[in-house]
Order: sequence, then structure tokens, then C-alpha cells
Amino acid sequence: IRTILLGPPGAGKGTQAAKIVEKYQIPHISTGDIFRENIKQGTELGKKASEYINRGELVPDDLVIEIATDRLTRDDCKAGFILDGFPRTVHQAEELDKFLTARGEKLSVVINLEVGEDVLMKRLTGRRVCKKCGASFHVVNMPPKQEGICDVCGGELIQRPDDNEETAANRIAVYNDQTKPLIDYYEKAGIIANIDGSKPLEESFASVSKALDDTA
Ligand code: AP5
Ligand code: ZN
Repeated sequence: IRTILLGPPGAGKGTQAAKIVEKYQIPHISTGDIFRENIKQGTELGKKASEYINRGELVPDDLVIEIATDRLTRDDCKAGFILDGFPRTVHQAEELDKFLTARGEKLSVVINLEVGEDVLMKRLTGRRVCKKCGASFHVVNMPPKQEGICDVCGGELIQRPDDNEETAANRIAVYNDQTKPLIDYYEKAGIIANIDGSKPLEESFASVSKALDDTA
């Protein structure tokens, strides 16, 4: 399976990806996670990317495309992959197509998670992530067993710096402006599966699974 998880900030891309990894055992490639890891390590890439991320803007295309295609070149992607948060502009999508075509590969399906804006804002501002392992929780929807502490590794739960109300709202606006056109792009390619991402996790994941199985 070669799949892209498309959807606005807070649609549940990362959450669905974790479930897909568990069930289908293919690597999860999140450009957002790669940037956050680099910010944590204080790398040059992290420094460049954080300026954009903290404002809720997109990191420039050439930087993202290089990182994503680099990652896709690794051996573990031969059997398939889940792209989460990439591509995010039409230019990124075109470059991904070129990259895959050159390797004789093509996408199986693009999962488009649809969630209304009021729900998105509640999900983003209520999200808490583990400082140590990156696991994601929600204060209301998916609370950890013990407040402020990660169920997976016992690490401290924090709020992402771009999950405050102002930056979250800007990320949604940027999505509407620059990423939403990808729905049309993949619809024309005939490979999109629209899924209601506002449903409880087990329910929305059942629809995602079905869309993935239908490609097999
Ligand atoms: P990125 O990390 O990709 O952030 P995003 O797209 O804004 O997506 P999120 O991680 O916020 O949301 P999600 O859809 O994964 O939701 P989640 O599953 O966590 O990107 C961050 C930044 O990096 C960008 O702003 C940009 O600057 C830069 N960047 C990254 N990629 C780039 C690219 N390709 N080009 C340029 N720049 C790039 O869920 C959210 C919350 O909801 C959680 O708390 C979760 O517990 C809860 N939840 C999830 N599903 C459900 C459900 N079914 N029911 C109830 N609650 C749920
Ligand atoms: Zn953890």
C-alpha cells in the first residue's frame, strides 16, 4: 500500500497513521514529525523550519520535497508507506508524482479525512503530546490514564507550540488556501477516498481500513 493521508490540521492524520502502522506494518512518514525532531535536536533544518512552523505557515516547497523524497528512498519504503502531511501544495504533489513515476511506482489511494472547522479547533487546542515518544492524546476525547502523563512511556505531556488558538486558526486558513486544491488534484487522478473524520476513532478507522483494503 502506498497511501497519502490528506486533511486539515487536527483531522486525525497522525492518529489514523498510528493505527494503520499497527495493522498493515508499513512505515509512517510525517514531515511534521521530521521537522519537530530536527527542532528538538537543534539542527540547521530545525532552525529553518521552526520560523515557519511557529507562525503556522508552510515550510518552503524545495526544503520539504527534498526531505520527503529522501525518506522515501530508504529500503523500508519498498513494500509501501503512509505519507502524513506531505504533499501539502500542488507543486509538492507534482514532484511526488514525478519521483514515484521514475521509480515505476504509483499511489494506491489518497485518504481524505473530512472534519468541520469547529471540531478541528477543539481537537487542536485540546491536543497533548508526549515530550519523549510523541504519542498524541486529547484532554476530552482521548485523555491519558493519568493527567499529564503518557500512557505509552510515562513521559510528560505538553501542548505543541503551534496548537494555541491563533496559530491553529492560521494553519486552518493556510490549509484552505494552499492544501485544499489537492483534493481536486487527486480526484482528477481517480484515487481519492473521502472519509468522515469527525466520527469516533474506531468508526473512522474502520472506513480508512476499508478504503485501504479496497486497493489490494
Ligand atoms: P503537521 O505536523 O503535519 O501538522 P498538521 O497537518 O497541522 O496536522 P496535525 O498534526 O495538527 O493534525 P493531525 O491531522 O495529525 O491530527 P491528530 O491525529 O494529531 O505539520 C506541522 C507544521 O509543519 C505545518 O504547519 C508546517 O509548518 C510544517 N509542515 C509539515 N509538512 C509540511 C509540508 N508538506 N509542506 C510545508 N510545510 C509542512 O489529531 C488531533 C487531535 O484530535 C488529537 O488530540 C487526537 O487525540 C484527536 N483526535 C484524532 N482523531 C479523533 C477522533 N476520531 N475523535 C476524536 N478525537 C480525535
Ligand atoms: Zn510517551
